[in-house]
Amino acid sequence: MFFRLIDIKKSYQGGSQKTLVLKGINLDINEGSFISFVGASGAGKSTLLLILAGLLRPTSGELYFDSKKLTRLSDKEWSFIRKQYIGIIFQKKIFIPHLKVYENIITPLSFITDLSGRGFDDGRVEDLMETFDLKAHRNKYPEELSGGELQRMMIVRSLVTGPKILLADEPTGDLDLENSKEIIHILKKINKKGLTIVMVTHNKELALQARNIYRIDKGEIAKLIK
Ligand SMILES: Nc1ncnc2c1ncn2[C@@H]1O[C@H](COP(=O)(O)OP(=O)(O)OP(=O)(O)O)[C@@H](O)[C@H]1O
Ligand SMILES: [Mg+2]
Repeated sequence: MFFRLIDIKKSYQGGSQKTLVLKGINLDINEGSFISFVGASGAGKSTLLLILAGLLRPTSGELYFDSKKLTRLSDKEWSFIRKQYIGIIFQKKIFIPHLKVYENIITPLSFITDLSGRGFDDGRVEDLMETFDLKAHRNKYPEELSGGELQRMMIVRSLVTGPKILLADEPTGDLDLENSKEIIHILKKINKKGLTIVMVTHNKELALQARNIYRIDKGEIAKLIK
């Protein structure tokens, strides 16, 4: 077992209006799986991913990570788990423009060096940069990268801490199909080595690369059979 979501509901309060965005999600995410979420814009995909990341609290329902009931934890305890086990690629790309590619990539490591002796692993950083073909770009600034290179930088940055699960919101959002496929191909290889992946994508062809596909439709979830 890895993640278990039990009747997760989420509503957003906008002024006096409350909108129910997730309407009771039940889902198990097993260790080693590769899952994709598809669904229309506004369906609730990013909201669900942010809840899995512990960056957003559900309005009701329970979320377990292994045997830990995350919904019972304090923000501090939850953030400890996130730093240890979870890699995140946000839909809106967040990076530091005045830092070079390599410096951007290693920023997450500064948050975990204090945790249980898991510090800077230069070998892992170099391996990932090699895998995602970024070595030649290490001393550039993000604005000097192509769209694909920037996406790859975001992926490498999400993996430098050695997470057990990658939550990726449109990891190939800005790319053409050929480049997207190449990235998914690499993610599949990493998944085979044991990384659990949950990916949001608009693209059906890319979604099909995952082992399990779920459609999020108006806040409800349904499994699609390939
Ligand atoms: N912080 C917020 N406050 C209020 N409403 C929000 C907030 N974040 C998202 N929403 C609303 O919740 C709904 C679901 O948003 P979400 O970002 O989860 O959709 P999505 O499926 O990821 O869409 P997209 O494919 O366009 O990224 C949308 O109607 C959105 O406007
Ligand atoms: Mg989204």
